[in-house]
Amino acid sequence: MNTNTTIAQAPAAAPAQASSIVRLQDVSKIYGSGDAQVRALDDVSVGFGAGEFTAIMGPSGSGKSTMMHILAGLDAPTSGHVFVEDTDITTLKDTALTKLRRDRIGFVFQSFNLVPTLDARANILLPMRLAGATPEKEWFDLIVTSLGIADRLSHRPSEMSGGQQQRVAVARALMSRPAVIVADEPTGNLDSHSTDEVMDLLRRAVDELSQSVIMVTHDTATAAYADRVLVCRDGRIVSDLRDITADNLTAALR
Ligand SMILES: Nc1ncnc2c1ncn2[C@@H]1O[C@H](COP(=O)(O)OP(=O)(O)OP(=O)(O)O)[C@@H](O)[C@H]1O
Ligand SMILES: [Mg+2]
Repeated sequence: MNTNTTIAQAPAAAPAQASSIVRLQDVSKIYGSGDAQVRALDDVSVGFGAGEFTAIMGPSGSGKSTMMHILAGLDAPTSGHVFVEDTDITTLKDTALTKLRRDRIGFVFQSFNLVPTLDARANILLPMRLAGATPEKEWFDLIVTSLGIADRLSHRPSEMSGGQQQRVAVARALMSRPAVIVADEPTGNLDSHSTDEVMDLLRRAVDELSQSVIMVTHDTATAAYADRVLVCRDGRIVSDLRDITADNLTAALR
């Protein structure tokens, strides 16, 4: 955690930086039409630093998941541009976008999204298999050992605890060395012990592997693992914190 800066109250949004691994530029997302129209994202510009752990917080309905889906290429913005490693993904055709998503982005969701019929090993290796890539054995061994799931590799998801399943999902995301790991409430279904384990792991991926991580969380203790916390409200980023203390988070979320 940094201690030498104070809360930056970003007027509209944090500036997008050239060194960003992912960058949103003037992104808006409007769902529905007429009276039912919802502006889920309202002209957001923000850059996510390479090798940085960013947490996104904010009330329910403030646009967090919408932002994650759009920056990961799972959904298209109504207007604006999204850059992943300098590629404007809003201009990509479906096949190119699918490939970029598969090769460059690691996903971790609240519901784990593991394939129930496959054991842990096969789940971890599945994205690389689908990509026709050869997994590095040493990398695989390092990941499953440091995640504490080396002795669970032949277990199916239904034979593992929630924390173990989520660690398998994190291993799967790390396996292809993606440009960025995108995690939407990755610990939302976990008890506090498993939450700490998964957060320690993501933190280590950032510190030891220079992995970039963008994570949505409702929990201030979970957000405290990050280097930077963005707070969303009504489809905008209203705070950009790097001095992540309990007091600062409480003030920004008020
Ligand atoms: N597919 C959709 N169709 C219509 N409206 C949507 C759709 N997805 C999201 N919305 C609306 O967009 C707004 C932002 O939703 P979003 O899911 O991004 O919020 P969130 O910050 O992730 O909330 P939560 O903390 O509850 O997960 C909400 O008003 C929501 O109702
Ligand atoms: Mg959400």
